[in-house]
Amino acid sequence: MKRSVILSLLVCTVSVMCAAFDDVESVVANPGVDASTQINISWAAHVPGTHIEYAEKANGQEAWKRVEPTFHRLCTTYDSIRSKSPKGQDIKEGVMFIKCAAELQSLKPATDYVYRVLDATGKVVVPVHAFKTAPAAGEWSCCVISDFHTYTPAPGRLKAAMDMVGTVEKYNPGIDWVLHLGDVAAWGGSWSFWVEMYKQPAFARYMWTGLNGNHDNMTRGYDKVSKDFFRDANYVPRNGYEGQVGVCYHFRYGDALFIALNNEEMRKDAEFAQASQWVRKVVTEARASSNPPRYVIVCEHYQWFNAVTGKTSQYGRWSPIFDELGVDLALSGNNHIYASTNALLAGKETDGYSGTVYVQTPSCDNERGQGMEDIAYNKDIIKYRWTEGDRTVGAMDMKVDDKHIVLTLLDRNGNILDTVEVKAKR
Ligand SMILES: [Fe+2]
Repeated sequence: MKRSVILSLLVCTVSVMCAAFDDVESVVANPGVDASTQINISWAAHVPGTHIEYAEKANGQEAWKRVEPTFHRLCTTYDSIRSKSPKGQDIKEGVMFIKCAAELQSLKPATDYVYRVLDATGKVVVPVHAFKTAPAAGEWSCCVISDFHTYTPAPGRLKAAMDMVGTVEKYNPGIDWVLHLGDVAAWGGSWSFWVEMYKQPAFARYMWTGLNGNHDNMTRGYDKVSKDFFRDANYVPRNGYEGQVGVCYHFRYGDALFIALNNEEMRKDAEFAQASQWVRKVVTEARASSNPPRYVIVCEHYQWFNAVTGKTSQYGRWSPIFDELGVDLALSGNNHIYASTNALLAGKETDGYSGTVYVQTPSCDNERGQGMEDIAYNKDIIKYRWTEGDRTVGAMDMKVDDKHIVLTLLDRNGNILDTVEVKAKR
């Protein structure tokens, strides 16, 4: 009782401070630990008593089930942060809200769901959003994208990224969800950038998930760096290692085990040792379980290769561990230049039935890309590189079945630039 009174008082204060904000913002569906039956819906509330209703899409609105947040906490992560307004003025963002999450359980696999957010009076404050649960096994597909650096004074960046999602949807109208590999915000500390991003219709159509990029981890001028910016703009499974809960995580999507890492706290040797030990544990336990994954996919923000010249980057750190664990696919972003390999083991290409395929996404914001030079390193293992210079826009379609994973790199016009196959290990 006492706690709810305190919470109500806090919310009143917050509402006054944030009169310009919508009652509920930044709604997103992230996976639960097993995305075939568990999905985490989260949102930022400026009013008390918010909750959601969800239903199987096929059953229509009569079947709405009410769910109270399983998590709610006053979030001050983005308060008093130096930022920019959409008009480019210098501002300080003063925002606090109640971060809410509803961890949905016991969903039906491979099923389309709809959900909406309501306030304490039962008024719908966020109209219908949708997600699809993963199949227990078998075929599925997703869009893989990164580095949109959402920045409200330059709205073209987010538009280019969302148009690129549209290009992938046109190529594959059956995509089930979207995976991003970081740097979705220019400054993760700027709450208004997240709000603008989550308003985009693509976030109402799909389950999204991703990881913390260096830009998501910073504010303007690096006044503050924090992984909490990513954590509190999402609600990913709380199964990360010590210090990384809500940021690093793993989840099952069909036959695939996904592991998401946080490069920003993996720079020092001791941090890297902790991260790699956790990856080892997660993969080993999953493989020893009664439902071992067919594919293991490890994702981080920093690139495997500096693709300007092909020089080894994070590939150098991770490849011995991926070799040891038989990781199937390693995905990254950050470089703004696309690069792919065939399956590699001990630094050499295999027949594809062993080793790890490395892929890094291009940027897609039409503004912050970079050009490349002739390849000077790793000529024998880098299969393909691609960039359009500063104004790069590209993303991938990823199709998965029992035999293989196929990644297809598309440019903004839907032209197929590269196709990568990850064979299921025998
Ligand atoms: Fe980036």
